[in-house]
Amino acid sequence: MKLFGALLGGLLVAVLGLAMATERTGSSAQDPSAPDGLRKGGSFQQTLPAPPMAGQAREAGRETRNYPEQPPVIPHSIRGYQVDTRVNQCLDCHSRSTAIRAGAPMVSVTHFMDRNQQVLAAVSPGRYFCTQCHVPKTDAAPLVENDFRTVDEVLRDLARERR
Ligand code: HEC
Ligand code: HEC
Repeated sequence: MKLFGALLGGLLVAVLGLAMATERTGSSAQDPSAPDGLRKGGSFQQTLPAPPMAGQAREAGRETRNYPEQPPVIPHSIRGYQVDTRVNQCLDCHSRSTAIRAGAPMVSVTHFMDRNQQVLAAVSPGRYFCTQCHVPKTDAAPLVENDFRTVDEVLRDLARERR
């Protein structure tokens, strides 16, 4: 009977210990480490300071597009340009009627098309909020390694393989 009591006591200690161990791992699962994004390290419940905002790119001028349908990056600052339902300051320089005077490239004909490829008289509502697709170019370092290859590089490698 004494032996049975000791066994039962041992079992109880073991069960309690196990419960405490799972409790401890359970609490660390509630605050796992955050994925490394803009802010490296930390956990989901920590708030680390934000990195400084990227500055304007060193080289001025338009960038070569990597493929025909890439929205070109904006080669100038857009700080303070108003774009809302009443005013679109981008179109002060990029619309059909103002582009030449402003020395800016006109928005392409695709920006006048509706979803049925019908060309409208004015920029289509789907293209009105320019910064949905166009972003200013900055001096930001890439967040992750990037092995993107341009379409020219892909075609050149294909041609070499065929030879
Ligand atoms: C004051 C006139 C002006 C305003 C306002 C303006 N732009 Fe521009 N934009 C230009 C000029 C000029 C260029 C050409 C720059 C060059 O050739 O180096 C240009 C170039 C661009 C290009 C590059 C096109 C290409 O083919 O490389 C994009 C995209 C662009 N602007 C988008 C915008 C957007 C979006 C806005 C509004 C947030 C805007 N621009 C407001 C004058 C303007
Ligand atoms: C839905 C995405 C989208 C929106 C919104 C959009 N664009 Fe574009 N833009 C593109 C793409 C994609 C291209 C390149 C292919 C093309 O011309 O359609 C382009 C091309 C351009 C070009 C170069 C034209 C050329 O012939 O070289 C300019 C300038 C431009 N956009 C300005 C603007 C301005 C200004 C606005 C806002 C009024 C705007 N875009 C809104 C996607 C967009």
